[in-house]
Amino acid sequence: MATRHFLTLLDLDTDELRYLVQRAIAIKNGLKTHGPTYTPFTNRTLAMIFEKSSTRTRVSFETAMAQFGGHALFLSSRDTQLGRGEPIADTARVLAEMVDAVMIRTFSHAGLEAFAAASEVPVINALTDDYHPCQLLADVMTWTELRGSVKGRTAVWIGDGNNMCHSWINAARQFDFQLRVCCPQGYEPRQDILAAAGDRVTILHDPMAAVDNADLVTTDVWASMGQEEEQARRETDFASFQVSEALLDRAKDDVLFLHCLPAHRGEEISATLLDDPRAVVWQEAGNRLHAQKALIEFLLLGRVEG
Ligand code: CP
Ligand code: NVA
Repeated sequence: MATRHFLTLLDLDTDELRYLVQRAIAIKNGLKTHGPTYTPFTNRTLAMIFEKSSTRTRVSFETAMAQFGGHALFLSSRDTQLGRGEPIADTARVLAEMVDAVMIRTFSHAGLEAFAAASEVPVINALTDDYHPCQLLADVMTWTELRGSVKGRTAVWIGDGNNMCHSWINAARQFDFQLRVCCPQGYEPRQDILAAAGDRVTILHDPMAAVDNADLVTTDVWASMGQEEEQARRETDFASFQVSEALLDRAKDDVLFLHCLPAHRGEEISATLLDDPRAVVWQEAGNRLHAQKALIEFLLLGRVEG
């Protein structure tokens, strides 16, 4: 069987993605009921390559492997030969000789694709400059847990047309919901990613109009990792794109607010937004653990019943 990778949400078909969301919910319930007694990965290892910082992604993958009976290896590009110029493809071939799967957080999506092309074990995208698909598994899981099927619903992305926005666009395609992307002029998502989503995704520039009748509102930092030097300019360009309680009041009464975190209070969100009951970001963050367990299980074992 060909090795399956998870580089974007388009690497799985819609049926597989729906299965993953349901499986993640079942795994979460099993953990609550029985504790970490399900250990399908005894003595299996996941290599985790981090070329950018992380809290949630590292802790969730490492905990997932530990609770599943296996082990995760934290590999920073600072301390591995990758940082000293060993070719990506060579590293991929070497790791595949020893570990069962590889997770990578890096800058270049093309670099991730090159790694996956050379890898005989599953490769998981843990964030690139272009996509963050693992976060969307947790986000759709959270939305589904709280509101049931997301099909036909309306989500609104406020802010930068960045890696998270691109993954929301792919999620709209795969899970069949409407997405309004509301960004400042000049910060639109990539045209090819947008075009492939067809009329499910629309671009707007007025946050008040964008959230009208929305089921879900989400945002992200104004300057992503690697864009630190643009922070000041972006603070000016995004000033009228802050998500506040007043903005959520314009959406549906039962609207949910998601943020992948880390958040910058007083920038992309108001100082108190995360205290509002409509914000479900802690559940969302916790769901990274369960969603990624379902993903690793699927990539290594295929579908599992029950
Ligand atoms: N949301 C997310 O990926 O968080 P980290 O950068 O802390 O991993
Ligand atoms: N867009 C953000 C997401 C962080 C999880 C970044 O790339 O820094």
